Amino acid sequence: MKEVLVLGGGGFIGRNIVEYLVNRKDCHVTAADIREASNWSMIAADSKKSLYFKPVLDDFAEKSAFEKLDRQFDEVYMLAAIVGVNRTLRDPAEVIRVNTQLTMNVLDWVAKKPVKRILFSSSSENYAATTDLFDADVPTSESIPLCVGDVTHPRWTYAITKMHGELAFIHSAKALNYKPTIVRYQNIIGPEMGFGHAIPHIVERFSKENGSPFKIYGHDQTRAFCYIDDAVRGTVGAMESDNARGQIYHIGNREEITMEQLTTYIGGLMDYSGKYEPADTYPGSVGRRCPNIDKAVNDFGYSPKNDWKEAVRLTTEWYQEFFTSGRIPESGGFEPPEKILASMTK
Ligand SMILES: NC(=O)c1ccc[n+]([C@@H]2O[C@H](COP(=O)([O-])OP(=O)(O)OC[C@H]3O[C@@H](n4cnc5c(N)ncnc54)[C@H](O)[C@@H]3O)[C@@H](O)[C@H]2O)c1
Repeated sequence: MKEVLVLGGGGFIGRNIVEYLVNRKDCHVTAADIREASNWSMIAADSKKSLYFKPVLDDFAEKSAFEKLDRQFDEVYMLAAIVGVNRTLRDPAEVIRVNTQLTMNVLDWVAKKPVKRILFSSSSENYAATTDLFDADVPTSESIPLCVGDVTHPRWTYAITKMHGELAFIHSAKALNYKPTIVRYQNIIGPEMGFGHAIPHIVERFSKENGSPFKIYGHDQTRAFCYIDDAVRGTVGAMESDNARGQIYHIGNREEITMEQLTTYIGGLMDYSGKYEPADTYPGSVGRRCPNIDKAVNDFGYSPKNDWKEAVRLTTEWYQEFFTSGRIPESGGFEPPEKILASMTK
């Protein structure tokens, strides 16, 4: 039976890929992460699923962690990274250190213990500066040049680790004679996606803020939201397709909406009837983002099933339940852009 490693299998996308593969029952899945995912213990407790599942907890920015990976893997999903705008703005040096170490450790490990297929998770952040500064076409195809804006701005530390990862995998793979697949995720959303993102922040604010007007940060900025189930099918489809070997794909959704559309839709779902007010958003936030996904559609039949309203509704329901039950995020809860800006200029 096929052996699969999901490194970053405790994270949002990773734990959903793990569950999807375990449910298929056609491979053994090792989920490796520095933290345990909420679904690991449920899978481990289910005698029909646990046969297909092995969790490994360690810090994979340390080379010694790889000694715990005792199987001969056919497929490796490399998803582990420090993610999130707030963390990147607050702790850019750590983002650079951990993300590049994770990439280099994986490459050193596969040089010694070859695997058949490997997929690296990259990001639309890689071309955020290209669309903003050079007015590149949106929806954006995979052939767009990648670039960073002002190198003194911490925002670009995350993007540069993703560019580094893409180039490191592509060029190391040539020497090792395999063809990595790269997926650039674009605003993947769903229950338990973390708390450092736009939708959890908006739901948190609607749950807590009384009174009107409700500020819409970055009201005219655009995004295209993709539901997690679609992203999982797209990622596994890319991994398992012969056509996708050595290729780069956008995994996301085609529907470009404004932050105003997003916020007022969530407001409607949460019975808000007050006024809205446009406001400036986080420093460095990209103006427009929407992927062209034709290449994934043509090469391996990628086909997102959930439209943006369904994706946002399902996500909002989970977060509304979380916040109205009085729970508090361990990290990544809403902090106003004004406060983040002030902490950056200290
Ligand atoms: N969610 C999105 O919309 C999106 C967009 C673009 C790119 N991505 C990329 O996709 C991947 C998965 O993203 P996600 O949304 O699931 O993020 P996530 O933060 O939920 O998952 C990343 C996982 O990596 C793990 N990790 C971090 N440092 C580690 C270390 N030293 N050792 C072991 N594990 C470590 C984290 O604990 C976390 O579980 C990331 O590489 C991210 O950059 C995601």
